[in-house]
Amino acid sequence: MVRTLWAVSDLHVTFPENQATVDRLVPQDLGDWLIVAGDVAERIPDVVRTLTALKQRFHTVIWVPGNHELFNRTTDRVNGKARYRALVGQLRAIGVITPEDPYPVFGRVTVCPLFTLYDYSFRLPGLTAQQAVAQAKVKLDDELAIAPYVNIEQWCAGRIEYTEDRLDAIRGPKVLVNHWPLVIEPTHRLRFQDIALWCGTTATRDWAVKYNAIMAIHGHLHIPAETRVDGISHIEVSLGYPFEEHPPHVQRPWPFPVMQIN
Ligand SMILES: [Fe+2]
Repeated sequence: MVRTLWAVSDLHVTFPENQATVDRLVPQDLGDWLIVAGDVAERIPDVVRTLTALKQRFHTVIWVPGNHELFNRTTDRVNGKARYRALVGQLRAIGVITPEDPYPVFGRVTVCPLFTLYDYSFRLPGLTAQQAVAQAKVKLDDELAIAPYVNIEQWCAGRIEYTEDRLDAIRGPKVLVNHWPLVIEPTHRLRFQDIALWCGTTATRDWAVKYNAIMAIHGHLHIPAETRVDGISHIEVSLGYPFEEHPPHVQRPWPFPVMQIN
């Protein structure tokens, strides 16, 4: 019996085409696991509904939040950090593993769901974060739907500290899973470089090496490509928006098979 650890991200199920793709997402073996690396949807009930369906099919489902899960609307009563806590609570209740849970082990490899956000440090030298955001010609919706509700740089710094403490405590090989890339290189493929401001933090640059990762999985850019940094593959596993097209050289198998065990 071969069991596979699969990975997907950026399901964006509010698009009917994407919902249909997610409906067809089934394991090859009853023991298969699935990583969902953020951006399932914007509304919490849609996130919970989608992951409930996937948890019914896959043995284990591991989720990390993307920026879209963190989007607040002015009419929402629960926002900012409380919104993340609400998501974690509701997903734990359906048996999905979150970045707040003990890291599960697949074969001999620890799968680490991370939540490290972004802090505008993917910017040109000589600019402050504020100047970089002010000068950006293209801005992500995060500035309207996340930034007004929380100090994102502080939250990011807090997440880095929390996550380093947890990773420091674990030996052995790991698969690191995060919505945002852990290194800046994948953002060099973006058409609009300004968008990199919302794509990660320089604080995680050495994590893959430091924490003995055999692979790092991410989403967010909607450019499903592999980036080798310091000899380790950083693989984007996004589904993306139905209207996006990717040049054939960056296409990855989807869902992406991270590893197999007998
Ligand atoms: Fe995203």
